[in-house]
Amino acid sequence: MSKNKNILKHLAIIMDGNGRWAKERGLIRTKGHEKGAEVTREITRYCAKHPTIETVTFYAFSTENWKRPKYEVNFLMKLLDSWLRNELETYHKFGARFETVGNIEGFSPKLQETIAYIKKETAHHTNVTQILALNYGSREEIAKAASRLANRNEPITEESLGNELNTPYSDIDMMVRTSGEIRLSNFLLWQLSYSELFFTKTLWPDFTAKELEEMIEQYVNRERRFGGV
Ligand code: FPP
Repeated sequence: MSKNKNILKHLAIIMDGNGRWAKERGLIRTKGHEKGAEVTREITRYCAKHPTIETVTFYAFSTENWKRPKYEVNFLMKLLDSWLRNELETYHKFGARFETVGNIEGFSPKLQETIAYIKKETAHHTNVTQILALNYGSREEIAKAASRLANRNEPITEESLGNELNTPYSDIDMMVRTSGEIRLSNFLLWQLSYSELFFTKTLWPDFTAKELEEMIEQYVNRERRFGGV
């Protein structure tokens, strides 16, 4: 009897290594982010065409990223704004819906407007949902969800807390982190509980759909026991 293959519905990615990619080429770090954004598009294209992937979540800006030099934070904010505006056509072409997790209230009103606009314009697409984690931190997400339940005097259970998170999407099946760092960095800690984790030394701007495809090949054949035997 053939073994059941794992189905990949929700993929999460920590896009790491933009700065090092730029440094290796004698470029300023922001060039790495520009190239990184192109890779985000390519991977989204791949996910939109993939027969089983429904959601891809990218870690684009963490609550800790505010600690970066001001010029880099400003650049990332501007890049996000212009990228999203230019990307609308691409979302339509890919049939991709755009969503976010994280405290976007921390962003400028203009960027918040852009985010809301792209969400609204792409809400009907069904090939894939691309979620950008923006000003996102997992501990904060969990603590705030618990606090909301407590304020409403509701019991805090795995189910109620899971449903109260800002990411009431499916559990994540597979997580990829690029650039050789082997840690989760406060990314979707609750949702990653039973994920299959993949780490590659490839820097994000060099990452390709082909490398992802090879990882997915391994994922479908891995044994997932969810704590059972
Ligand atoms: C990590 O590289 C990446 C980030 C902090 C943010 C990810 C941002 C992008 C891919 C570009 C913007 C994305 C979109 C979708 C507009 P790093 O700077 O930590 O690299 P390093 O570890 O080599 O310094």
